[in-house]
This record gives sequence, C-alpha cells and structure tokens, in this order.
Amino acid sequence: MSTAATSSQLPVSSIIVAIDGPAGAGKSTIARHLARHFGLLNLETGAMYRAFALKALRTKTALDDVESLERLAEATEIRLESGDEENSVLLDDEDVTGQIRNPIVTDAASRVSVFPPIRAWMVRLQQQMGSKGGVVMEGRDIGTVVFPNAQVKIFLDAAPEVRGMRRFDQMGPEQTAQPEDVIRELRARDERDRNRENSPLKAAPDAILLDSTNMTLDEVVAEAEKIVMKKIAG
Ligand code: DC
Repeated sequence: MSTAATSSQLPVSSIIVAIDGPAGAGKSTIARHLARHFGLLNLETGAMYRAFALKALRTKTALDDVESLERLAEATEIRLESGDEENSVLLDDEDVTGQIRNPIVTDAASRVSVFPPIRAWMVRLQQQMGSKGGVVMEGRDIGTVVFPNAQVKIFLDAAPEVRGMRRFDQMGPEQTAQPEDVIRELRARDERDRNRENSPLKAAPDAILLDSTNMTLDEVVAEAEKIVMKKIAG
C-alpha cells in the first residue's frame, strides 16, 4: 500500500473502486494494478457469469430458457477468490479458473447474463463480497447497480477495433481466429451487453470516463491511479 494512501482522509480499507466498461477495454489489467498499488482486494465479476455459463453448458441447459437457468442457479454455488495475478473462481467447490476463458463460454456468459433473476443473484453475491470495502470491483454494472455509492467509479472504454486487436494479440500464436473475427465477436457481445433490458452496460452519471483508444497501458494505469489518489486525498 502506498504511503500517500495511508495518510488519506478517506481510509483505503473502506474504499470501493468500481471499474466498468465493454469487453477488451483493459478493465482486468487496470483493476489488478490498482489493487496492488493501493492494497485492495481485486474482484472480477465477469468470472462469476462465466462460471455460471460453464455450468449451463455442462448441464446442457438452454441458454435462453430463463426458468431452467433460474433453477440451475438455485443449485449452484459460485465463489470468487482474489489472487495476486487473477481471480480464482470456484463452481460448486471446483476450481474452474482455467476453463472459463474460451470463446464458447465467453459467448454463453454474455447470453445468460441478460436475465434479471441471474443478475439479481450475482449482484447479491457481489454486494456481500464487497460489503467491507477495500475492494476494486470490475464488471459492467458495478457503478450503476452493484455499488451505486462507490467512492470511485471509472468507466474504461476504447474503440472496438482497438479492443479487438488487443484481444487478438493476447490470444497467442496457437489460435486460429483472424483479427476480423475477434472484432466481430466483440462487437456482437458489446451489442448484447449494452442493449439488454436489465442493467445494461452504461457509464454511471458520476463515473469518470477513461478512453484508452490512444493511450499506452502505462498511461492508462497512471491516469487510473491519479483518479483513485484524488478521491482518497479528498
Ligand atoms: O468481463 P467479462 O468479459 O469476463 O464478462 C463476461 C460476460 O459477463 C460479459 O459479456 C457480460 C457479463 N457481465 C455482466 O453482465 N455484468 C458484470 N458485472 C460482469 C460481466
């Protein structure tokens, strides 16, 4: 934890930093940096929707059948554990962290997350996890729904082509998709996340917009640190 942060008016131990934005905007990277820098717990809510989507796929539950999904949710336990590098996600006590990042689960997560009962369940869990403060929580609706009173809200965005290319570059040499495919998939997911009826992806009115289209990672990290620091200093 930085010295400046400990001498703050707003105790870091109680702060909630909400980071929202579309896929590929760099939320996870920024959240991880902020968590390390300020000594906060890093909670990545997308991993929870992904874990539930994995269970729906495994159980062959139709991804558009809200009643079946709701029944499935009632018989599902999801836990998120903050780690130094990434979150571990436990699905009914099984660590599924390594199984939730493939394109099929990614697409399914965006589908199951449109349904109000599924969201209400997730939001409740997320509110419990962050209730003591001292967290940076990342997702789509953290500043609008999960923690509307979060002291710091950052909405991280970038042009779709830039986000798509960043995702493509992260995929490594063994992947077979073309950059255009990745950008197309990302646009489709954006469309669904932004236009769903229930808590769509949008910036909270009091969020600080950070557009990283023409910024390097270091610049975005520095800017995000500055935003948090300013809030802490009051
Ligand atoms: O952040 P991510 O790509 O891991 O999220 C996967 C999907 O989960 C995303 O398409 C939308 C959904 N999601 C959500 O609806 N609300 C959140 N707070 C986090 C993720």
